[in-house]
Amino acid sequence: MHSFRYVGKELSCEGVTIASLVKKHGTPLYVYSQATLEDHFGKLHAALAPVDHLICYAMKANSNQAVMRVLANAGGGFDTVSEGELRRVIAAGGDPAKCVFAGVGKTEAEIEFALKAGIYCFNCESEPELQRINKVAARLKLIAPVAVRVNPNVDAGTHAKITTGTYENKFGIAFEQVEGVYARAAKLKNLRLRGIQTHIGSQLTSVKPFELAVKKLLPLVTKLKAKYNFEFFSIGGGLGIIYNPALASSDAKWWQSAAAKDILTPATYAARVVPLLKPLGLRILIEPGRFIVGNAGILITRVEYVKKTGKKNFVIVDAAMNDLIRPAFYDSYHEIIPLTKQGGATISSDVVGPICESGDYFCKDRPLPKVGEGDCLALLSAGAYGSVMGSNYNSRSLPTEVLVHGKQSAVVRTRQKVEDIWANESVASWLK
Ligand code: LLP
Repeated sequence: MHSFRYVGKELSCEGVTIASLVKKHGTPLYVYSQATLEDHFGKLHAALAPVDHLICYAMKANSNQAVMRVLANAGGGFDTVSEGELRRVIAAGGDPAKCVFAGVGKTEAEIEFALKAGIYCFNCESEPELQRINKVAARLKLIAPVAVRVNPNVDAGTHAKITTGTYENKFGIAFEQVEGVYARAAKLKNLRLRGIQTHIGSQLTSVKPFELAVKKLLPLVTKLKAKYNFEFFSIGGGLGIIYNPALASSDAKWWQSAAAKDILTPATYAARVVPLLKPLGLRILIEPGRFIVGNAGILITRVEYVKKTGKKNFVIVDAAMNDLIRPAFYDSYHEIIPLTKQGGATISSDVVGPICESGDYFCKDRPLPKVGEGDCLALLSAGAYGSVMGSNYNSRSLPTEVLVHGKQSAVVRTRQKVEDIWANESVASWLK
């Protein structure tokens, strides 16, 4: 479910029209729906209800303070990957005791910060990292809670750049090595072996790879739990979302097919994975990013020019790959719709940004309603890995962000002032 839909002919977010937000705040503009965030968090919470669980929202997907506050208020913890992210949790009023800290390259300073903040657990990705955490904890006279991230060597069948759980990837410790690593870690005096973790990839649309990974890990987790008195098993994030509704057929027969039954939803997850986890008697952690925030955000852009080349119809808009890099980076699909519902004729279009790169496009050869200068378009499903992957390429400011709640809306990030882009730069003294 998401809360962006046409009310009459006007695209709206909850009880607010997008056109009214554009009028107030200009474009490019990110709009987030609080109801959608809460709904998605709530659905996962309900799916996991049969087991003791903690949802650690993978804030890398969207770390806007308001988004994080919504999820903290809903009872969520956070999956963090840097000191910066942990600091953001604290700034947003989140609880470090509900945070895990992942990532292959934790520095000593980051480990020290996380230990002092009192995080729930470090998800460790190598043996040298376990040794480093032990060393820092010993210096601080603290005990560090750790879990080993297991690489189960299961192919998630997702885009190569977001697959993480095979031996081609830099993440985790190989399945076969995990027992030995725990045995050696158990000898390190300033570590507490609190649990075990895995994460196989992102944007998984089938429940099968999750099922395979959990089935593969169950005997190992059961054995290690008994040995080290584990408290939790984290099954990572990766739950995919629907970017292109045309692919999710509305045909009733299709929805009853085997392929449809394999589609990953909180319900299929609950039906197929939760029964496997329950007998473990462990607390289950889950680290969803995209599932919670992906369809809770859209990016609005204004048409600057329409250029017909004979071969192509280029719709040149004021947002660019610096605002939303996913199409350029992963060839990803984002639905593009007008702010006012239109029927009738479409025209095959390339929607492109103003950046001087051929990769700066949002779609190619897609049938879209005819638009002209000044019209606005909405890029859907832009809530996850949109704003956070933004840059200042071409000295373009980061856009305004707005959160909608019912009939209310609030600016949750102001448009970056153009001078702020170079505020930290200086001219070397010999050039003055
Ligand atoms: N846990 C770990 C250890 C992760 O590495 C990730 C994502 C997550 C959780 C959250 O995954 P999610 O539930 O959001 O799929 N920029 C890419 C996605 C990169 C994902 C990186 N890791 C994109 O735009 O598709």
